[in-house]
Parts: sequence; C-alpha cells; structure tokens
Amino acid sequence: MAQMAIPSDPEQYAEIVAKMLVRYGYTVSLPPEGSRTHTLEVEKEGRRFAVLLKNHKAKCNLAQIEKFLDFIDATGSERFSSGWFISASGFSKPAITHIESLQSKKLSLWTHIDNKLHRTYPSIEPPASDTATSNQPVRQKYFGVFTCKGGVGKTTIAAHLAGAFALMGYDVVLLDLDPEKNLRKLFMQGADDEAPSLYVPSQTKGRPGSTITVLNHDEWEPYQYRDMQIIICDCSPVLEQNPAALVERFDYCIVPTTLTPLGIAKNADVITRTFRHIRQINNHAALFALINGYDPSEAVAKKNEKLLQHLASHLSAYIRTDPLSRFIHPDDSAIRFSTILQYWGFHLIDGTKPQLAFSEQRGKNHPRTDFLKLADYLEDHTAIEELRRSQEQEKLSVSPARA
Ligand SMILES: Nc1ncnc2c1ncn2[C@@H]1O[C@H](COP(=O)(O)OP(=O)(O)O)[C@@H](O)[C@H]1O
Ligand SMILES: [Mg+2]
Repeated sequence: MAQMAIPSDPEQYAEIVAKMLVRYGYTVSLPPEGSRTHTLEVEKEGRRFAVLLKNHKAKCNLAQIEKFLDFIDATGSERFSSGWFISASGFSKPAITHIESLQSKKLSLWTHIDNKLHRTYPSIEPPASDTATSNQPVRQKYFGVFTCKGGVGKTTIAAHLAGAFALMGYDVVLLDLDPEKNLRKLFMQGADDEAPSLYVPSQTKGRPGSTITVLNHDEWEPYQYRDMQIIICDCSPVLEQNPAALVERFDYCIVPTTLTPLGIAKNADVITRTFRHIRQINNHAALFALINGYDPSEAVAKKNEKLLQHLASHLSAYIRTDPLSRFIHPDDSAIRFSTILQYWGFHLIDGTKPQLAFSEQRGKNHPRTDFLKLADYLEDHTAIEELRRSQEQEKLSVSPARA
C-alpha cells in the first residue's frame, strides 16, 4: 500500500487521525476552545486520554515531549489517564532516550505510518533498523568543546555530551587534548588504568549498552576506532596547542560560557576569539556558544533576559559574518546549574567507581535532560545543516567541472 500523504494543514490532519481513532473504538472530542496543549480528547471504557498531534516534516524533539509531559503532570489523573503523542514523522533519538530514561507511565509515543499507529514508547521491541546499533558503517561525527577560558565547564560538557550519545546507543571516543588531563583522571578505574572507559547501559530493554573510551591525542587512530560513531574532544585552552589536523575534522564546536554580569564583554571576546581561531583551520564546522550553569528560575528571568541581550549584542558582530555560527538561546538548549554536576568527580575523593552525573539511570535528572536536549539541538539543527548544504551546492555550481 502506498504511504498516505499527510496533509500539512493541522486541522485536516486531526480529522484523519480522529477518524482512525473512531475506527479503533474511541469516542473523540475536541479540547476546550483555545487550548494549545493538546489536539484531541479521546475516551473508551471510562478512560480519557489527551492526544497531541504533530504533522511536521522533522522528527518531534525532546522539548516538545517535555512540554506535553509537563501539561499531563500538571493536569492530574482525574482529567486524563495519560497522554498520547502522535507524530507523523517519528521522534528524534534524544527524545526517545529521554522518555525511556524517565520511564513515564503517563505518556505514550506513537508514530503514524501507512494509516496505522505504531507504538514508539513504551517500546514493544527494539526497532530492528536502528542506525545507532546496526553494523552499517556511519560517518564519524567530530565535536570539539573549546574555550581559552578555564573553569566554565569544558570538561564537564565534553564528558556528559559523550554520556548523552552513549545513552542513545552510540559508542563514543572522548579525546583529551587538555594538558590538565582531567578527563583521563575522571574515567580511570584505578591508579594504573591505561585505557579508561565507561560502559553506559541502554535505556531500552533488551538493547546492549555503549562505551565511552577516553584517549590521548597520540592514541587516536580513526581507522582503529572506526566503529566509534562520535568523537568528542576536550580541547586545550591554549588554542594553538590543538592539532590542526583534528580541528579540521570537527563538524560541531561548542564554546561554553556562563551568564554572569562580570565579564559579559570579556566572555563575548573569548567566544569570538575561539570562533575565529577555529575558522582559520575549519570552514565547515557549525559553531555554537552554549550557556553553562544556567538558572532558569522565574526569580532571575528578567536579569537573564538583560544579560542575554548584552551577550548576544556583543557576539552579533561576529555571528553576522559567519552564517555557521550560533549563540544558542537557553530556551532552546542550555546546561542548567546543578549540584550533581558541581560534585561530579567526587569518586576521585572517596575512591568509588567513575560514573556520569546521570548515573542514576531512571527518573528525572536535570543534567541528563539538558545534555540530551543539547544533542537534540545539535543533531536536529536542520537550519544550519541546510545552510551548509546549500553553500556546498553553491560552491559546486560555481567551481569549474573537474572531470
Ligand atoms: N552546570 C554546572 N552546574 C554546576 N557545576 C558545574 C556545572 N558545570 C561545571 N560545573 C563545575 O565547575 C567546575 C569547572 O568545570 P570544568 O568542566 O572542570 O571546567 P573546564 O574544563 O572548562 O576548566 C567543576 O567543578 C564542575 O563541577
Ligand atoms: Mg577541563
């Protein structure tokens, strides 16, 4: 059977899904006038469900799931037994990993294909054609975490972004380019551990976990580690010390910064200087400035707004000239301040085994949500990807034919 066309009009799409749900024996009604939290309400045998429909072209992301789950949590079980999130384009890998780590019983995810609903979460069985765990060779993706300013969370971010990809089922190499060698110390299983690595169990039942392997630059051999899909570098704060051959390979560079009044202008200078340095060597990487240690509470919302404006305006002179650079607005992605991250590495003090700050595998955890969201933002950053592709196209079309 041919894949049914999904109408782009949300109302037409809702009608199609409503008819299907009626066929499944549900009574379908519309939510109260003006409500934007969900699309339909359905009922069967005394149980009521809130249904959210998305007929986007892009996969639904973690932020959309989080928002719907917040609504379901806030609404209480008297009104809805649970929520159904139905997407015509599926869900991003970070989004699925997030909901699987939460083990929420209040939400199920469905993918609408060929006029049928397929349950994505709770998963019935691990998807057979999963790119993260299949043996198909995939192009390695390189991430650099940079900054010439110390103590803003470079090592913390490199390690936990690696953790987020590992939770999603990717094997990751963490390259320690910083002479401080903190990553190496943090992942060593004992004083004489020559090859520090961490096994991260899968969030999906019945699927194998992934490994994070920490290497020094001189141990790195792309061919030897060709099964590793993700390479994340904790770069040296002395920018010139980072091997150009590696910087050239980066697909994504992240420059963390804090959002504090002291040194907003200085932070912006540091970010710009770092972006410029990378650009001298690499003209294709997407460059991101990311806020670390963010406080999203209402009490400081007004101050944050002002600080963001200041930082953005200081950065704008550079960002305007480089279409592949972005200052990530914390509404899209930021790493929140968290005590678990602040005390990450305590195992070096008390002699316990290395672990990530989201090692408690189930339930809510800010760092895990934030780093999955960051992975989601980077992976799904289609605007920047498309821009890059169109630029490449342009280059191809203006350069003389080679053959
Ligand atoms: N989001 C955060 N919340 C709380 N503490 C953090 C956060 N990010 C980093 N830290 C703490 O800040 C300190 C410096 O972080 P680190 O990753 O070592 O920075 P860098 O590698 O840039 O020098 C560490 O003690 C770390 O635990
Ligand atoms: Mg460090």
